[in-house]
Amino acid sequence: MELDLNILKPQERVSLQLRVLYEKAGFRQYHMGRFEEYGLYQENRRFLSSEQVITFTDLDGRLLALKPDVTLSIAKNAQVEPGQCGRFYYAENVYRPSQESHTFKEISQMGLECIGAVDDAVTAQAVSLAIRSLARTERDFVLEISHMGFVTGLFDAVGAPESIRPRLLTCIRDRNAHELQKCAAEAGLSRQGADALCRLSALAGDWETVLTAAEPLALNAAMGAALTELRTLCQALEAQGETANLKLDLSLVNDMEYYNGLVLQGYLAGLPRAVLQGGRYDPLAAQFRPGAKAIGFALYLDELARLTDAAPETGEKVMLNVALPKGRLGDKVYDLLAGVGYGCPENYNDTRKLVVENPAAGIRYFLVKPSDVAIYVEHGAADIGIVGKDILQESGADVYELLDTGLGKCRMCVAGPKDFADDPGRALRVATKFVNIAKAYYAAQGRDIDIIKLNGSIELAPILGLSDVIVDIVETGTTLKENNLKVITEFMPISARFIANRASYQFKRREIDTLLTKLTEVTER
Ligand code: PRP
Repeated sequence: MELDLNILKPQERVSLQLRVLYEKAGFRQYHMGRFEEYGLYQENRRFLSSEQVITFTDLDGRLLALKPDVTLSIAKNAQVEPGQCGRFYYAENVYRPSQESHTFKEISQMGLECIGAVDDAVTAQAVSLAIRSLARTERDFVLEISHMGFVTGLFDAVGAPESIRPRLLTCIRDRNAHELQKCAAEAGLSRQGADALCRLSALAGDWETVLTAAEPLALNAAMGAALTELRTLCQALEAQGETANLKLDLSLVNDMEYYNGLVLQGYLAGLPRAVLQGGRYDPLAAQFRPGAKAIGFALYLDELARLTDAAPETGEKVMLNVALPKGRLGDKVYDLLAGVGYGCPENYNDTRKLVVENPAAGIRYFLVKPSDVAIYVEHGAADIGIVGKDILQESGADVYELLDTGLGKCRMCVAGPKDFADDPGRALRVATKFVNIAKAYYAAQGRDIDIIKLNGSIELAPILGLSDVIVDIVETGTTLKENNLKVITEFMPISARFIANRASYQFKRREIDTLLTKLTEVTER
């Protein structure tokens, strides 16, 4: 019987090819049960992406969990001779909470782990296999690499306090230079220190150019050692002719608790988020066998399932798809973009069209509801967008935040009746459109609240006794004034931010950077 591989779905075809690839490279399949003792996750919470795990009691009364992670089980259970490097690959399902669907999701992963005596050769083999894994999808791809030692070394060099590092790391990861400057200033870092952190985002591109630019910027031994490790790795990959799709990006950072060295992230053209993630995770390996080192990566096979729907864009001109908020802010943003050469012949305000474009300028606008901008961008339906910080923060969208345009300035406030006095003896009733922002604000103060979610005319709530206070944006203050309310606390400055989809930024970087530069010039004037 002839086997026709074309009947297979992309993720099935790729997973077969990856098995062949990993077996030929000398990796053994590691198969594990669906369940694991819950204690393993409880003791190693810091290595999990989420603390939420599905648990149940087994027939003998033991508390078990549906695996939220594969690496932990392999690191704990794999048989590796002392002084050797165990090489394993797996194809398994894990169960994790999904922010989008607000429920647990079964995620199918394929990946490999090298545990024990990991040296330069093992590292080069693992990264080479990551590159070849992505190539097996037959799509244009990018493998980004970086080294956590460079960033942690830089934090030490600029004297960044431990407490502020997670926030700095988030800003670096989001390419959010304006927030990074602010956060660095609040932490008491010098101007030079803050600038050094901001420079990280410019250290991205082909490996030789980036390393040549980065080496003079190494401020201590740790930063130097990280660059040496990267150079050794890139030279080994270059010798094998495997660097065409490799990018070095020193602003690529990941969880510091988990990764202590090299980090990897892979993108495929047409898919909105990273399909491969991994890196060096010695602290976790050493947890189970002292002195052990480890490197590995996972490919998200479910993401590959979308390859069939996502036809890669064809045509000579690269088009930038912009999610433009309908209304006042959108008009201001559009005028700004039109002013720097991204206008369209057709005026969208004269029609009911939701898509207008200018192929010659390589721009296409989608007219969307302001509260949906971040969703379009996060899911890759649009490459870039302009969105108020209030909406961005509330959505928690995982996107790059490239610029504060300074447009649409207002502030997030707690407001209430003029004679409002808080009664700490009971939960505070808070009406708002911004449930997540309000919850986080009061959680940070340890204040117990009841949230009343409304969709507009929030000011009515305290007037009608529906709530004690509101959490809402205030621009001119007129609405509050005319309804006999006052600002109680102002806690977040808001303005419109220029955001980009993480994968789009890999494949349309030149176009996005050109637009960003022009936008920066006009907004800074
Ligand atoms: C926003 C906000 C306030 C008002 C503040 O409402 O919710 O109600 O603007 O602006 P001001 O300080 O200049 O008076 P929006 O116009 O978006 O309408 P909504 O009530 O439907 O949310």
